[in-house]
Formats: sequence, C-alpha cells, structure tokens
Amino acid sequence: MTARVYRGTDRNLSFLARRLRAGELVAVPSETVYGLAANALDARACRRIFAAKGRPRTDPLIVHIHSLRQLAEVAVPNPAALRLARKFWPGPLTLVLPKRPVVPAEVTAGLPSVAVRMPSHPLFRRLLQRCGLPLAAPSANAFGYVSPTTAAHVHHGLGKKIRHILDGGATPIGLESTIVDLRDPAHPRLLRPGAITRAQLNRALGTRLGAKTTVGRESEAQVAPGSLKRHYSPHAQVVLHPRLAQRAIAGGAPDEAWLFLKRPAGGKRRNVFWLDRSGTHAAVARRLFAQLRELDHAGFSVIHVELARGTGLAEAINDRLRRAAAQ
Ligand code: TXA
Ligand code: MG
Repeated sequence: MTARVYRGTDRNLSFLARRLRAGELVAVPSETVYGLAANALDARACRRIFAAKGRPRTDPLIVHIHSLRQLAEVAVPNPAALRLARKFWPGPLTLVLPKRPVVPAEVTAGLPSVAVRMPSHPLFRRLLQRCGLPLAAPSANAFGYVSPTTAAHVHHGLGKKIRHILDGGATPIGLESTIVDLRDPAHPRLLRPGAITRAQLNRALGTRLGAKTTVGRESEAQVAPGSLKRHYSPHAQVVLHPRLAQRAIAGGAPDEAWLFLKRPAGGKRRNVFWLDRSGTHAAVARRLFAQLRELDHAGFSVIHVELARGTGLAEAINDRLRRAAAQ
C-alpha cells in the first residue's frame, strides 16, 4: 500500500473521520509533531498503530480529546488536572491520570493510568469533532526514529504501512508535548519537558514539580513516558557540545556535520549548518527534527550539535538532543 496525502478540506475531513470510525489509521498534524491516530476505544484499531510503527506494546499511547466532557469519559480528573487543563488546553500538554474502564489495555500498555491531551491544531480539532471519538496517537514515525514535523516526513517513514495522511503543513512547535504525571495530585511530576515549561506548570500548580525517577525498560510498561533512553534518534551519531566555535571545526572529517543553534560568525561552509538565523528557542525547536533528518539523508555519519542555554524551552530542546545522542 502507498499512503495518500489529503489537504484539510471539509470533504477530506469528513472522509477521514469515517475512516477513523471504521477502525483505520490516519496520520494527523498537531501543533507539536504529527501523530498516528486511531479510535482510542477500539482495541483492534489501536493494535494497528503498534504494528505500523514497530512500537513495542509496552509503550502506551496518548489519548487526544476535543472537550473536557471527553476527558471525564476516558480519565478520572482531579482539581490539579482541571486547573492545568483550563489554563493550557487546547495545547501541548499531556496529563497522566487514572483511567476509566472504556479505555482498552492496549492503549495504556496495561497500566491503570492514561495519558490525555487536547491538541490545539485546527485540523486535528476539526477531525476530533467530526469523528466524535477520542483518538489514540503516538508520534507518526517508525519506532525509535526522530518524530515527524511534516506530512512528507510521515510519508517517508510510514508511507508503505498506512493509507491516510492529513497534511497540515509544518508543525508550529516541533517538539512533543510536555507530559505531567498527576496520578497523585499531591506529587505532580514532570515526565517529559515540552513547550509548556516547568516554570509555567509550577506557577499554575502553586507547587514544585518533581522529576521522573525511573528509567523505562522496553520489557515493562513505562511508568515514565518516553523514558526509553535512546529515542528520537537519527541514524548518524549525535555528539553534544556545550558550545561550538566555527574555528574549532576546521579539521573536521568530511562526513561530520556541525550544527549550530544560530548562524555562526564565518557563515556557510560545506559541513556547517544552523537551526535559525538568530537562534531563538522557539525557532530552534521548530526546526530541530527536520534538520536532523536532512543531515541523515545527506549522509553525514556524525552530527556535532550545540546544546541550548537557559531555561524554559531549552530544557525540552536539550532533552531531545540528549536522547538523540544516547548510545
Ligand atoms: O506531542 C505529543 O505528545 C505527540 C502528539 C501526536 O500528541 N505524541 C507523542 O506520543 O509524542 P509519543 O510517541 O511520545 O508517545 C506517548 C508517550 C510515550 O512515551 C508513553 O510512554 C507515554 O506518552 N505515555 C502514554 N500513556 C502513558 C501512561 N498511562 N503513563 C505514563 N506514560 C504514558
Ligand atoms: Mg514518539
């Protein structure tokens, strides 16, 4: 099979909503990265997600919803969760909460908790509304590879495994959602940093988020999401540097790329790249995964990258860089 790419017209959205209701998979744009969606209440449909991605069944899926009414259908919210939901939804924040029985074990990898997010991307929202179902969706990439931020990335990785890709252009944030564990509302924990920052969450909750304490193993359902150490990795070896200087790379081998966050003094050379002219964190986040893919396809076997400095979105950028660099 070869996937077809659909523009977000009314007719296409109605068609794709029917495909989802019939148990098929549809790749969808979100404000973070592209997701591979299925009816979250249909165990068979959700098993197809794992098969298409080559994802271990022990890695649970995020359930995407359109309304707070749907939140209460799939999860048991608490006051802290409702506070974050009112402040940051729709948006790039996922909440881990006790699950309701309607959510099949396939979605949660057998865990008694479910991860829920209300996305803000207008096409995803319209699709959710039209199909009237919660949609389970992990990132729409082959397991372990860099998450897709364009429809072309999805087609490149999964074009032979799925039939439908909804094209919403390049995703505006470019990194996966922030995940907060609120199973115990007295001890909220940050499981994955993202565009909703630790400081924003601490302020909204009036507490300090704890960090995840466990490192996931593929053999067990993950309590801490996305915690498999090597994840989001390009094929090339990624080497991290606190700082890169253009003059330090003069002797680099031809198969080594040097990736700066902002345009370096000295400008373009064959193996010198940058993520954004001025290096703002939002622009760096938006470009990061696409750039790693491009350097992979260009055949570089080593990518030297600079870490982001500061707090906020820098925490999420550096988290993804460290995962890409993990052996
Ligand atoms: O931005 C995003 O979060 C994107 C878009 C499509 O929404 N989704 C995404 O999903 O990045 P992905 O592939 O990272 O998978 C969801 C993560 C997994 O790493 C999983 O371990 C964690 O969320 N997760 C899901 N359900 C969980 C649960 N019940 N408890 C703990 N972690 C969970
Ligand atoms: Mg993923």
